[in-house]
Amino acid sequence: SSNRVQNRAAESTAQADAVTTGIGTGIRNGFANQADSDPAIAANRAWGREILQRSVDSTLGIDAIARARVESADELDGVFAAASAAAATWAALPAAERAAVLHRAGDELAARRGQLIEIMAHEAGKTIAEADPEVSEAIDFAHYYAERALDLDAVTGADFVPSKITVVTPPWNFPVAIPAGGVLAGLASGSGVVIKPAKLTQRCGAVMVEALWAAGVPRDLLALVDLANRDLGTRLVASPEVDRVILTGAYETAQLFRSFRSDLPLLAETSGKNAIIVTPSADLDLAAADVARSAFGHAGQKCSAASLAILVGSVADSQRFERQLVDAVTSMRVGLPDDPATQMGPIIEPANGKLLTALTTLEKGERWLVEPKKLDDEGMQWTPGVKIGVAPGSTTHLTEFFGPVLGIMRAKDLDEAIRLQNAVDYGLTAGIHSLDSDEVATWLDRVEAGNLYVNRGITGAIVQRQPFGGWKRSAVGAGAKAGGPNYLFGLGDWRPAELPA
Ligand code: ALA
Repeated sequence: SSNRVQNRAAESTAQADAVTTGIGTGIRNGFANQADSDPAIAANRAWGREILQRSVDSTLGIDAIARARVESADELDGVFAAASAAAATWAALPAAERAAVLHRAGDELAARRGQLIEIMAHEAGKTIAEADPEVSEAIDFAHYYAERALDLDAVTGADFVPSKITVVTPPWNFPVAIPAGGVLAGLASGSGVVIKPAKLTQRCGAVMVEALWAAGVPRDLLALVDLANRDLGTRLVASPEVDRVILTGAYETAQLFRSFRSDLPLLAETSGKNAIIVTPSADLDLAAADVARSAFGHAGQKCSAASLAILVGSVADSQRFERQLVDAVTSMRVGLPDDPATQMGPIIEPANGKLLTALTTLEKGERWLVEPKKLDDEGMQWTPGVKIGVAPGSTTHLTEFFGPVLGIMRAKDLDEAIRLQNAVDYGLTAGIHSLDSDEVATWLDRVEAGNLYVNRGITGAIVQRQPFGGWKRSAVGAGAKAGGPNYLFGLGDWRPAELPA
């Protein structure tokens, strides 16, 4: 696809202009939509042209991964020892120096925007339109945690004993922003960090780490590892010198980690099964667009994705919303990730297991409102699927599929809708579309999820404004939120009351 990117350069400038949003969100850039006057954002707007015009370097990240190979327990222990020693020096620096390095990390990430977008497209199938704001999120994490390093120092002074070693095990679905968040939080708190990127998106992790090294983060302090076998994976998590593990992944993975070590200091953001409620008072146009985007952005492979829409009363009866949703979904452009016009790209691996079943079968009472089609032999490129008539307690209601399938349920009133939304084991994101403030107040009071969105899509949490994380089976361990101050602290650490939540 690299050649495709280059060949299309000439004809695509206009398209690139059309899709650049200039999103930049964090504390330096100002929140999204307020950032237009910032020169850094203006520079970021050039990313569309950059990715299309520069020559592609297929070796990106490969060097760092080759050097990161760990073959034996002794080698891994050496990585820990070096990180721990480097952490002692790092933690002793004045906080302003640590903060300056982290701010520079934001600048180095920004300088690699085009590369990061490209590698996300290649490794994860992430569309340009989704990868661009993900780079912004990573940049936001850098500036956000740089400021927190200063806060931490001001509030805690010499009382705070930092973790020595933070292990970060990120997922493949946000292969730049999520690892960046964990790593930067660890560094901000004065810890050494060992990161093991997800196997499928190692180069994304490697280029992110290279940006931080270029900013002045010592290589021993921030170690990237590529482990030769599963025993080393167990050792990575279970070693006694590790005093904080930041995991984003499946609930089952968090349980496995805990089985390695009973006193594991774990901060884990895990699975989700998220719903948007649409009430009769809603702006149905907006609701249909938000449901479609939340369900099918990154082909449904976000832990935050909308997997269910729950239609209340006349919304379910009138079929008006149904028609709008069908329009919104079927007009989505499905295609290759490096085409700027693509709205839904491929899934990361050929569909299998429960996702394949969800894409190809119906349960009792269900029918296809929009039937998904497989566009390639392998089963990686699908069109979006929408099931209607989803029954309470069914697999479609309760199971996370992590792919492009949306289920529609009906509820006679808001009360029933909230019960259906809360019936799942998870509690990560949740949404409501309603223009009735009493309904919204009732919902806010009763909904069981970590990130709540009113009259907005339910993906794309903004660093600092919307720290991200859930409860129930969506969080294991300390249940802390990313993009907020919690990740500065290891489990059981003293947490000063003065720090803003
Ligand atoms: N932080 C990601 C989102 O909000 C998962 O969509």
